[in-house]
Amino acid sequence: MPQLLKIDSSSRNGGSHSRALADAFTAEWQAANPAGKVVIRDVVAKPIPHISDDTIAGFYTPADQLDAKLKAALALSDELIAELFASDVILISAPIYNFSVPSALKAYIDHVSRIGKTFAFDGQNFEGLVKGKKLYCALAYGLPANETDMLKPYLNLLFGFLGIADITFLKVEGTVFDADSVAKAKASAAATAVAAAKAA
Ligand SMILES: Cc1cc2nc3c(=O)[nH]c(=O)nc-3n(C[C@H](O)[C@H](O)[C@H](O)COP(=O)(O)O)c2cc1C
Repeated sequence: MPQLLKIDSSSRNGGSHSRALADAFTAEWQAANPAGKVVIRDVVAKPIPHISDDTIAGFYTPADQLDAKLKAALALSDELIAELFASDVILISAPIYNFSVPSALKAYIDHVSRIGKTFAFDGQNFEGLVKGKKLYCALAYGLPANETDMLKPYLNLLFGFLGIADITFLKVEGTVFDADSVAKAKASAAATAVAAAKAA
């Protein structure tokens, strides 16, 4: 049974273009995979705390030496990573905020980017360990995306680093423009998302 992990990160709920785009993808994916399971991870409705001193200490402590305090500090990271590995298709919806990734999503990323779990380092080279997944990113931009966009390149770099080679970006751009332009941009992006979901 395939599993789709949908990670939403816009602070807006009603009216969010990135969430709407991801919803269009999800509906089509569910129709194409009736036996498939959709897992929702909304990092705004259920915020992910920043990694702490103990979380980082836990990341670098061998599993057989973890005490109860460090195990507790790693519990959320363990859960998020297990959820990631259990999924075949990962769908991230995100707005661009201040040229970059929303902090709610960055907090999630800091828990799943973990040495020995999602990437390996042998002292010389890094290797991503999250293999064989497809990642779709449904992104919303107030303006047309341009050279100031640190969101798409960042997600591409980060998830590529973790081992995901198959990454597709779906974008709604110009969401602050007039209603007609926004409606056209939304319709075009939704059609692309539906086509992508059929092939996911
Ligand atoms: C705090 C904040 C920062 C923003 N920064 C940018 C930006 O750097 N570039 C841009 O194109 N739009 C920016 N926007 C506009 C949002 O990306 C746009 O409204 C988008 O549609 C938000 O995604 P959503 O519709 O899923 O909530 C910003 C909006 C907010 C609230």
